[in-house]
Amino acid sequence: MPATVVLGTQWGDEGKGKAVDYLADRMDVVVRYQGGNNAGHTIIAEGRLLKLHLVPSGILYPHVTSVIADGVVVDPEVLLAEMDDLAAAGVDVSGLRLSLNAHLIMPYHLEMEKVTERFLGKNALGTTKRGIGPAYADRASRVGIRVQDLYDEKIFREKLEVVLKEKNQILTKVYGRLAIPIEGIVEDYVGYAERLRPYIADTTKLLHEALTADEHVLLEGAQGAMLDLDHGTYPFVTSSSPVAGGALAGAGVGPGWIERVMGIAKAYVTRVGAGPFPTEADEAEAEVLRAAGDEFGTTTGRPRRCGWLDTVGLRYAARVNGLTELFLTKLDVLSRLERIPVAVAYRVDGEVTEDWPMTQTQVHHAEPVYELFEGWREDISGATRLEDLPRAARAYVDAVEKLGGVPVTAVGVGPGREQTIAQQGWSTAASGPPARATATSGEGR
Ligand code: IMP
Repeated sequence: MPATVVLGTQWGDEGKGKAVDYLADRMDVVVRYQGGNNAGHTIIAEGRLLKLHLVPSGILYPHVTSVIADGVVVDPEVLLAEMDDLAAAGVDVSGLRLSLNAHLIMPYHLEMEKVTERFLGKNALGTTKRGIGPAYADRASRVGIRVQDLYDEKIFREKLEVVLKEKNQILTKVYGRLAIPIEGIVEDYVGYAERLRPYIADTTKLLHEALTADEHVLLEGAQGAMLDLDHGTYPFVTSSSPVAGGALAGAGVGPGWIERVMGIAKAYVTRVGAGPFPTEADEAEAEVLRAAGDEFGTTTGRPRRCGWLDTVGLRYAARVNGLTELFLTKLDVLSRLERIPVAVAYRVDGEVTEDWPMTQTQVHHAEPVYELFEGWREDISGATRLEDLPRAARAYVDAVEKLGGVPVTAVGVGPGREQTIAQQGWSTAASGPPARATATSGEGR
């Protein structure tokens, strides 16, 4: 059975958690293919609030195998804490599988990120400070430590000695910090490895077997296309590839298996951290969106930057991902606005263009050309069919589809799984297990 990729089309926080949770009941395997605990889903399961950063949302379904694939960077302490939280809430985590090839986030990654972000001063990226960038940098420099290294203590110690020697030189001599001792790390990580032993697997083999056995596989992206290391607003990006191509590399599956690439687009746009955001609203308007959409980080409460839907960016995301469909989330948040601006083009250095600019300088210079859409007064959170939507809300959905150039197959009208209007046969989870969770996704802070 062909695989489905679900990914964000903006700067993360599009509501992927809801979309993945919504689709997961008809999946056999749900896979995280990149990123780490910089992502976050808030899930209400069995009346308990759970914060997921690494475990795929499929874990809420007992029949689903949840895979953390090769392309993910794993902080094992965070992973184990999440698994404990899930187990305490009555969620069965025995279906979790962790790739032996996944790279580990180590204590010195957290320390290096702290000092380098501080060093950048006003040019800081505003990262999540979870060690993501330094862990991926070590992976690319071939000094990373992988899950499999933990199961050979001699090798682990050897690799750690080499890398720690270099990190400690940098920490002490460049940044004037204290050296990090090896001992605590070896004990802690060997301990984590023992606890993780039942979950480790050859995940590319597992996925290949699942696909050839006609099982449904969902590849779940974290962050979003505009935070992609290659295709996003570099350098204000994350250090991995959320785009559809990254799903193949990160999970280790061939392109022939991918049938659907579902982009998640929020009905407006948010961004956390630094970097260009052409359709950012002025503070008064942003405040309205932030309050209505509860656009705050799940852990620290850091307010997200808010703005209007940007179809220039959406078309670009459709292009670099080969989107086959869109899930438009949080449409209900726009209710009661009189007029809704949507960017249809940019004016860049005097020229109007409908295409995403070629250079970063042009992105910084881009001024959105807005079309104003009529708002609606009605509460749409109970709508279950497109026909239930007020005329103006429907026109908005139609415009997203037309301007984005991708069919909208699902529309979110509230945080609950059942608050989803589905088209083209994607009905609500009537045949799946009983609804037990609601999920929202967001930057893990
Ligand atoms: P990093 O991924 O922690 O290195 O952060 C790099 C940039 O990506 C920062 O601007 C973060 O705020 C942003 N970022 C990382 N993960 C997420 C996410 O899940 N949602 C939204 N922004 C994110």
